[in-house]
Amino acid sequence: MTETYIEKTSGRWRGRVYTLVMLLGIGAVVACTVKEGFISPAGSTEGYFHSREIERRVDSIMRLLTLEEKIGQLCMYTSHHDITGPSTPIYTEDLIREGKVGAMFNAFTSSHNAYLQRIAVEESPHGIPILFGYDVIHGFKTIFPINLAMSCSWDTTLVEQVARVSAMEATASGVKWTFSPMCDVSRDARWGRVSEGSGEDYLLCGKMGAAMVRGYQGTDMSSDTSLVACVKHLAGYGAVQAGRDYHTVDITERTLRGVYLPAYKTALDAGAASVMTAFNEVDGCPATSSYYLMTDILRNEWGFGGLVVSDYTAIMELLHHGTATDSLSATAQAINAGVNIDMESDFYRQYLRLAVEYGYVNERQVDRMCRDVLRIKFYAGLFDNPYQNTDTIRERTAHKKDSYMQLSRRVARESCVLLENEDMALPLDPALNIAVIGPLADSRDDLLGSWRAAGDTLGVLSILDAMRERYPHITYAKGSPLMGDDTTGFARAREIATAADVVLMVCGESCQWTGEAASVTDISLPSIQNELLQVVRGVNRNVVMILLNGRPLELTSVVPYTCAILEAWFPGSNGARGVVDIISGEYNPSGRLTMSFPRRVGQVPIHYDMKNTGRPYTPDNPQQKYLSRYLFTPNSPLFPFGYGLSYTTYEYSDVNVEKEHYLTGEPIRITARVKNTGKIAGVETAQLYVRDVVGSVTRPVRELKSWQKVYLEPGEEQIIVFSLTEKDLSFYRADMTWGIETGKYDVWVGGDSNASEGDYFYIKD
Ligand code: BGC
Repeated sequence: MTETYIEKTSGRWRGRVYTLVMLLGIGAVVACTVKEGFISPAGSTEGYFHSREIERRVDSIMRLLTLEEKIGQLCMYTSHHDITGPSTPIYTEDLIREGKVGAMFNAFTSSHNAYLQRIAVEESPHGIPILFGYDVIHGFKTIFPINLAMSCSWDTTLVEQVARVSAMEATASGVKWTFSPMCDVSRDARWGRVSEGSGEDYLLCGKMGAAMVRGYQGTDMSSDTSLVACVKHLAGYGAVQAGRDYHTVDITERTLRGVYLPAYKTALDAGAASVMTAFNEVDGCPATSSYYLMTDILRNEWGFGGLVVSDYTAIMELLHHGTATDSLSATAQAINAGVNIDMESDFYRQYLRLAVEYGYVNERQVDRMCRDVLRIKFYAGLFDNPYQNTDTIRERTAHKKDSYMQLSRRVARESCVLLENEDMALPLDPALNIAVIGPLADSRDDLLGSWRAAGDTLGVLSILDAMRERYPHITYAKGSPLMGDDTTGFARAREIATAADVVLMVCGESCQWTGEAASVTDISLPSIQNELLQVVRGVNRNVVMILLNGRPLELTSVVPYTCAILEAWFPGSNGARGVVDIISGEYNPSGRLTMSFPRRVGQVPIHYDMKNTGRPYTPDNPQQKYLSRYLFTPNSPLFPFGYGLSYTTYEYSDVNVEKEHYLTGEPIRITARVKNTGKIAGVETAQLYVRDVVGSVTRPVRELKSWQKVYLEPGEEQIIVFSLTEKDLSFYRADMTWGIETGKYDVWVGGDSNASEGDYFYIKD
């Protein structure tokens, strides 16, 4: 094995391994066996990243390292290229030289990363390469729509392509590891980070996460165009109380396992090599010090053999959580829980050796943690080719290629959701006089959303620019700021709105209002934008609104004053053209919401798969007071999960479960007929929902189980076939075992979570 290893290794490293072989003689052969202490108690490293060959290579390095050098592999620092959190001024170059840095993040140019890599490989005692991480969340240079938007395409193949392009671009600029996908199920629109995830449903979040993992990592993680994926934030970050970022998470074990964990697990099953801890606590224990999450569940139950990185300074934050008395115990808690890499706290470097000396941490745990890091570095091909991402020539031509920008446009148009379209107000005829009005109409920067990595506005068109490309008769007025009370622009807006055939308003949120540390208590449009809408509507009834924003908004006061609303999210580098493809009718909108839009913020968290309660409200007894309902607002959202209009219409019929009775384990076949009843071709997303009518514990009123996208010409119909397995219907039963239950199941197939065409079946023993 040593020979293979040596052959593939850089010169400096080669010398070291030869020396090792000579010194240890037969010992080197002994090093081929997997060491005791590496295999977890359940022996579960099998499954993910288990290769004898790589374990041998890891062994050969472990033998060379001192305790301090092992700890070095567990330390990660930010480069000051980009700052994504509070940072400590640490002189990292010296630390790299001493072998005390295993990973860096926020360094993202081939030349800078090559410079740092050279110090690690050629000047540090053992020449172990650095793993360079970065938040490549929805694109690197070519920015794609925000993740919440992309999820509205319900197209995992498309999302996989986005991740592949992101990997091609980022790896050309020195990056080898992305802190993505975020698989946090998000049900509270007040939370700014809903923009980074795939919405409220765990099946969809998991499938989107898995698609991203496949796209980033490709089929071979060691390829110089592959990024190591990181599933985050384990666990339950989306459930922060009242939508306030970093806040407490207090959910039951059943909800944790049944709703939040499956999405991470699905993405990990796609082969993700790393996991990031969440900032929040779960059941009183900060995720970053949770042995239960990071070892019991992740490693022992799921068999994960990759690495776990803390979130930004999350180990230090154990002090604020109040579960660690001092830095030493915070360090011990995190490493003992199974957190391999300390992101930016600088606690492992300062305190881990001491924690071992005091007996708070067994050195074998440090070994285990270090092995995980080295293992992933091997899988990532870093030992064989540490400079794989530092080719400055490749970098020069790697970004914003035409095909990438085309993809950005395509994804944008497939992510937009048409919320309203009274009397077919859209699409707009090219002959019309159109007044483009609104605080976001001429913004380029906002289109990129938050977490735009190395993205910039070079070559980015605003919605106004893109409208001018397509429509000859355009006037423009900003009308108002995004927020505040400056009404001086109203007069000009009124003037051009009066003269126009149609007003196209571009309103919404600043991109700074979403993402991390961007929670809000009010999700409606700021009052100045509502006033502007009133002013415009006062002189022109044909108001079409394009919304640019990163969370579900409260649109109750907007709907009555608009004839069409297109939810365009933050659509990315070439997003404006994608949006105008819809405005002009070149593309028939097909996006579907992956988060419910409430009528009032007071309804959140609101999601389609709620429980029935003991006093369910039904529209046929609206006068009844003592029901689970609000006094002045319906329970239902304004726009439900799965919803989105098209320029055509679809009709569902003949929803049919093949048999009435099934034995446990038998596949269940469901068919439905869907027809395009309108005049133009379109893509429909047919969604399958199931309700387990009676369970040993209460069950959601419906759950998404599958979906299919179908292209239909006008008048065309298709029979869609779904197949459900026992696994699809399994859940955590009363005794917390996971499995199916007998009894009746209701089924619906339709274009959103309110689908009314259905059937039923029974499961028998
Ligand atoms: C975020 C992570 C991110 C990390 C590194 C943290 O503040 O929570 O999602 O990956 O910073 O930038």
